[in-house]
Amino acid sequence: MSQRRLRVGMVGGGGPASFFGAPHRRGIVMDNSAELTAGALRSQPAEALAAARELFMPRGYPDWATMIQAEAALPESERIDYITIVTTNDAHFGPAEAAANAGLGVLCEKPLTTTLDEARRLHATVRTRDIPFGVAYTYTGFPMVMLARELVQGGEIGEVRKVEAWYPQGWLATKLEAENQKQASWRVDPARAGGSGCGGDIGTHAYEFVRFVAGLSATRLRARLKTFVPGRALDDDFTVLAELSHGAIATITASQVVIGAQNDNGFRVIGTTGTLEWSITEHGVLKHYAGGQPLRLYRQGAEYGYFPESIKPYLRLPSGHPEGFHEALANLHRTLEWTIRGRRGEKVPKPFPHPGIADGVAGMAFVEAAVASSKQDGEWVSLASS
Ligand SMILES: NC(=O)c1ccc[n+]([C@@H]2O[C@H](COP(=O)([O-])OP(=O)(O)OC[C@H]3O[C@@H](n4cnc5c(N)ncnc54)[C@H](O)[C@@H]3O)[C@@H](O)[C@H]2O)c1
Repeated sequence: MSQRRLRVGMVGGGGPASFFGAPHRRGIVMDNSAELTAGALRSQPAEALAAARELFMPRGYPDWATMIQAEAALPESERIDYITIVTTNDAHFGPAEAAANAGLGVLCEKPLTTTLDEARRLHATVRTRDIPFGVAYTYTGFPMVMLARELVQGGEIGEVRKVEAWYPQGWLATKLEAENQKQASWRVDPARAGGSGCGGDIGTHAYEFVRFVAGLSATRLRARLKTFVPGRALDDDFTVLAELSHGAIATITASQVVIGAQNDNGFRVIGTTGTLEWSITEHGVLKHYAGGQPLRLYRQGAEYGYFPESIKPYLRLPSGHPEGFHEALANLHRTLEWTIRGRRGEKVPKPFPHPGIADGVAGMAFVEAAVASSKQDGEWVSLASS
């Protein structure tokens, strides 16, 4: 039995021009079991307080350090239970580390940090403080992606030989940052985005398919990072060939200059006895090709008995009623919520193993290795163990 709604604090994500705070806010309240209680929503104190008022936040703060300190000092009956971090990449580490030290849970946006070193330091703190920590690789919250993971683990396609993972976009095919477009400006700035633009922003999503669905990680890789738009400081195109654990191989591609692409990310996981394929363009369908058999289509719907118990609690609607991106993000909040409630002894469904701090660190190790390889004209680079 749940005792009360969880209380959530948001860092970043405020202001009319900000993008990803709003989907998180919808995801948090979707199931009526959590509420937005506190926020430090923008980088400038006065703007942060104004954004909190505009969003009717019960407790607005001028900055994340004040928020975490003040919330941690409140009695348990009032304090926030976790924070969600939706800032530019350079402002992930600070609030995540402070929240972990204060014993609060965290759902942090990807990429986890701007450097692998920061990611490792954060990992150490999270481990020591033993706090619930999720990383918002949103696509892992799609039930069909979760099903793909369960089918691979259940041996439905045999041993994984190869993974193809892709994430093409086209919105940075021109120099949008020169027009002061907010999301473009910081994504091409190494100080705010990190060492790779396209790779950090969306290559990490594609790589997480390798880890989350296939259950494998890159051991070494060769990469070609390209900057097609003149004068841009970071890559806008990212191509990686990776060797995976257990002798498998992967191609991981991401791009921001594929004119016409609409965030159409997806994967193909190829095993010794079959292939699983998913794409966001048909996100309610998982394709299973088994050798010599007709194509099998798994379709999304709460009533379908082929969803294992581990996924059923994450389906909200019967078939034919699309559940999509917002629900996937809500599922990541759901997993963190159930982890927190479970630790308190409340009776909740078993949380699905959605990405945690180790996946965030692995994403940073992947990006740093790709940057290093590309600088060495595509030489093989071993991934630093996280
Ligand atoms: N998981 C996904 O599918 C997904 C999708 C989009 C963006 N993202 C991630 O979300 C994050 C935000 O991206 P966006 O596109 O919404 O950016 P944005 O520029 O629209 O918003 C960034 C927000 O962070 C705030 N901010 C910056 N520094 C801050 C600080 N020190 N304290 C408080 N607030 C601060 C800004 O004021 C702004 O409101 C990025 O890390 C990005 O990679 C993830």
